[in-house]
This record gives sequence, structure tokens and C-alpha cells, in this order.
Amino acid sequence: MLHKHKRVLAVSMLAISLLLAACGDNTATTAPVATTAAPAATTAAATTAAATTAAATTAAATTAAATTAAATTAAATTAAATTAAATTAAATTAASVSASLPAGFDAAKGCKNVGVLLPETDSSARWEQFDHPLLEAGIKAAIPGVTITYANASNNADTQQNQAEAALSKGACILVVGAKDADKASAIVQKAKAAKVPVIAYDRLIQDDDLTFYVSFDNVKVGEIQGQYIVDHHKKGDKVVMINGSKTDNNALLFYQGAMNKLKPLYDSGELVKVYDQYTPDWNNATAQTEMEAALTQQKNDVQIAYVANDGMANTVIAALKAQKLNGKVLVTGQDATVAGIQNIIAGDQAMSVYKAIPLEVASTVQLVKAFYDGNLPSGIINATTKNSNGKEIPSALSVPVALDGTNILTTVVKDGYATKADICKGLTGITNDLFKTICGS
Ligand code: BGC
Repeated sequence: MLHKHKRVLAVSMLAISLLLAACGDNTATTAPVATTAAPAATTAAATTAAATTAAATTAAATTAAATTAAATTAAATTAAATTAAATTAAATTAASVSASLPAGFDAAKGCKNVGVLLPETDSSARWEQFDHPLLEAGIKAAIPGVTITYANASNNADTQQNQAEAALSKGACILVVGAKDADKASAIVQKAKAAKVPVIAYDRLIQDDDLTFYVSFDNVKVGEIQGQYIVDHHKKGDKVVMINGSKTDNNALLFYQGAMNKLKPLYDSGELVKVYDQYTPDWNNATAQTEMEAALTQQKNDVQIAYVANDGMANTVIAALKAQKLNGKVLVTGQDATVAGIQNIIAGDQAMSVYKAIPLEVASTVQLVKAFYDGNLPSGIINATTKNSNGKEIPSALSVPVALDGTNILTTVVKDGYATKADICKGLTGITNDLFKTICGS
């Protein structure tokens, strides 16, 4: 019960901050941000600009609470578009990319039934712990009386299409879709379009020219942060295993592209040696473990670095390393700043993660939903364009990811309330190192 109260409180405080953001308190602090060039891969999208949205800035500028209540049953929680988000998601810029609401989506104006579809529950804790409750709270705060039709595809593209059709038949007039499959979700965009309903691609790009907006982080930058960490911490001749995400998730291609931007020159010069490189269907954590086991067997355990695309897979890669008593000896990367990932960092088994402050991504999404509802798109939300596989530029709202390692846990995720010390320290037994003492006390 107490748990539930905490959750309601946290979500409503967050909702208030999102509402403020959605109403547009555009007192943005601006700072230059490095533009990520965006090498267009044939398959992958090319991000052409990077910068946080004004939404991010406004959300960050609002004070908000934060709590993370992890619950097995899900939901729970959360936290923060805090002042600290401004610090950590640091560099923001009021990059202006001119954009307007596309024509032909008449159903969206005054829409009080928003469909929210997310891709999966198991390979990253983020979807049900953060994205789902925050999107619901944010949209409800922005459009009083709105109905949210929510569904999670459990990693099945056909299920997701059925869920989209069900939402449309129940009257959803704006869809927010975190796609399970970038190509297959095109059918969702087309069904929606036929009903004059716009689709906002949430976190993951959908390959369809009729997609209206894309909200995410600068995902090439995510990969570059991971790759740069390896560049900064490697020794000459280190052997690298690469365990990438799901090929049907456009983000996985962008993370890889970013990582290779940093690693390829070192592979080419022989400074680093890539010994294994595999995409992982469904971002499946158990498959990632099998991949790491195969790589270790193949290399007779002579591996020094495991580039792993997210924390969920890093956790099982670490299990494979533990079985060979190699945990803590092999540099492991991750992404998502999950509690388990942060615990692995404190334990010394994972070197780093990438912190993507989901409240910022949600705030941009809520602003776009509200823009459709109002029939008016304020400037400052769209800050980039993202090229899809046909070369079409999709107007985008991208936030800035932040590198996370043992040196900045307190000043980023804890400061923002994205993860609490209580969550992080719970169950961390048998660790006595200085990092543990700093964060959890003795
Ligand atoms: C998200 C990551 C997540 C992964 C697996 C990606 O699209 O951006 O945050 O770890 O999917 O769920």
C-alpha cells in the first residue's frame, strides 16, 4: 500500500512537471552541443543533428520529484525531470528545425483517445518501469479527461500490429508507438493514416515516409559514448567481443554505427582486435549470454573487452564471464542506467552504462501529442531531422545521452532521482570496495 502511495505521489509530481513543460515554460538555458554527424548507412537512419529539445530543457528546468520504485509487477515509478537533468543531460540547445503539423491527420485535433504501444517487457527494465507510467501520466496531465489505450507487444511485431488495430478500432486518434520492428511497423503507420491518425515513433524509428514525428535520444551518440569509453580504457592488442542489439530495432543499428565510428580506426590500425560481432534477436538477454559463452570458447577465454549494447544483455554477459572467473577482468559496456547495471558497475563487473533520462524523452512526446490535440506545433520541440531508409527526413525531437560510470553515479542518476540510493544499494551484499562505501555507506 505504502508502495502504491509513493508511486502515485511520484507520478503525479512528475505529471505536474510534464504539464508545465507541455505548457511551454521555455526558459531554456542554452549551451552548445556537439552535432553528431550522421553517416547514413544504407539500412540505418541518419541522424542529422543532435541536441536536446526545448522540451527537455523546460522539463529539466521544472523541479520535480523522483522516486524509483521498482516493482516486479511493473510499473512503478519514477522520477524526475529535475533541475539535475539539466546538469546531466547537460548540453542543451535551442536548435531550431522548422517544422509544422503535417496535413491529413484531421482525427488528431481535439483527440481524447491516445494509443500508446511499447515493444517489450523483458530485455530492458525501462519500458514498464519508466516509459509506460511516465507516458500515461504525462499525456493525462496535458489533456485532461483523455483515455489512454495502452498495450505492450512482448517483442512480437504481429502482436503489435493487432494492438494498433485494436486501439484504432477503439477510437484512438493519436498513436505513440515504440516499434518492435522498424519495417513491419510501417503497416501501423499506414493503417493509422487511412483513419487520419498520426503516428509518433517513440524511441525507435519506424521506416515509413508517412511517419509524422520521431522522438528519441541521439542514438548514434549513445554508441559513440560506449565506443569512446573503450577507446579511453583499452590496452594495445586488446581483443573485443561485440554483442549488439536486435537488427529489427533501428536503434541497434545506430548504436553500432556510433560504436564503430570510434572503434573502427583502432581495429584498422591493429590497436584493437575484433574477434566476435553479433546482433542479438529481440535483444534477448539469454541469447546474449550464449553469444558470450561462444565467444569465450572460440577465443579460449582470451578476451579483454565486451562491447555490449545494453545493461540487460551486459548482466547475462557478466554471468558468462563469472562462470570463467573473468568478471571484473573484462571491460563490459552497457546502456540504460538500470538498477542492475548500476549495481554491476559498483561490483566492478561492468565498466559503464549510458544514462538516457527518459523523462526528457517523455516530455517531448507529450508536447507533440498536445500539439496535435491543439492543432498547433510550437517552435522549439523539433530539434533535428532523421533520415529514414528512403532518405526522407523525419522531424525529430532528440535528447542527449550521458556516459555513466563509477565516477558519476551520485552526480547524475542519483541526483536526478532516476535511481535512488535505496534501490541501488538494496541486495548489494558482499561488496566492500570504496565505490560501494561512497554510494551505500559502510
Ligand atoms: C532502447 C534501449 C533498450 C533496447 C532494448 C532500444 O531501442 O533505446 O534503451 O535497451 O531497445 O529494449
